Amino acid sequence: MNETVHVGLGARAYDITIGPGLLAQAGALIAPLLKRPHVAVITDENVGRLHLETLRKGLNSNDITLSSLMLPAGEATKSWPHFERAVEWLLEERIERSDVLIAFGGGVIGDLAGFAAAVLRRGIRFVQIPTSLLAQVDSSVGGKTGINAPQGKNLIGSFHQPSLVLADTDVLGTLTKRDYLAGYGEVVKYSLLGNSDFFQWLEGNASRAAEGDMAARIAIVKRSVEMKADIVERDEKEHGDRALLNLGHTFCHALEAATGYSDRLLHGEGVAIGCALAFELSARMGLCSQEEPSRVRAHLREMGMKVDLSDIAGDLPDAEALMRIMAQDKKMMGGVLSYVLVRGIGDAFVTSDVDPEMVRGVLQGALNARG
Ligand code: GLY
Repeated sequence: MNETVHVGLGARAYDITIGPGLLAQAGALIAPLLKRPHVAVITDENVGRLHLETLRKGLNSNDITLSSLMLPAGEATKSWPHFERAVEWLLEERIERSDVLIAFGGGVIGDLAGFAAAVLRRGIRFVQIPTSLLAQVDSSVGGKTGINAPQGKNLIGSFHQPSLVLADTDVLGTLTKRDYLAGYGEVVKYSLLGNSDFFQWLEGNASRAAEGDMAARIAIVKRSVEMKADIVERDEKEHGDRALLNLGHTFCHALEAATGYSDRLLHGEGVAIGCALAFELSARMGLCSQEEPSRVRAHLREMGMKVDLSDIAGDLPDAEALMRIMAQDKKMMGGVLSYVLVRGIGDAFVTSDVDPEMVRGVLQGALNARG
């Protein structure tokens, strides 16, 4: 029942294996990578409590031992102090250049452990075992690793591709509905940026997947990582097409900053709202018809997701302040902000040719709708 997607990056190529029960099969799947039968695992306290024993048994069944480090769960872990702790722990454990590190968790653990693998002894190999939907469809694939700086998210890091990704779809069953739907924000994003047939399929099948249908969940993860692999193969280091993956993210990052990177807005929720705003901006600029944002919003609503600024609890800054936050975005080049806009569902493109007054108008309209 396992599915495999190949990421064709020459000497850095790897497979993404998708399916239920992969933790139990981890020993057999990882053994071909090992020079000695031992791995280091970095995880967080939630994932460790729920799933580390299953992974340990899966590795032990192929006579592979593990040592593990459990970090606190949450975005605050993606910081210098926890990164330092992880690297020093790997050195204390005498993890060697030829050893393999396992990043076992959601996006925070994947990014932090991947960055530790990138710099330890000038770089060791690592395996991603993503446990959130967001990590399975996005952050575990493509080699972006790093931590946050006081100045902003993901500002310190490296491109370091994993040697293998194991997306165990059984593990998704332990996510809260909110976390599942936040990850689903990234799934919708793939369909919106490059595949209208996939969007249509999601309109008919995503509810089944959210309710736990395993075949639908596997299909969602597979189609998403196929699209990501295709883009990463074309543009590994984001000099061009990879920027399409930022659909919805300029608005999302401003909203995340405005809500203090807190529980008020999860990243994937911000991506969904950001996609709706990017479609609205595209429609106002005459790039697509008004039916397109309406259709996107209808699907997000049907899934029970956050769609509008009124779905974010508490106060938000005014449009001017949101514009100022957006001007800090990583995607600024020569003082000009680039946007991912759409000509319709499944047809995104990157441009810096956007009148800031249009953006202000979209934000003002969305804030006014909060009442
Ligand atoms: N999450 C966007 C990227 O990997 O490029």
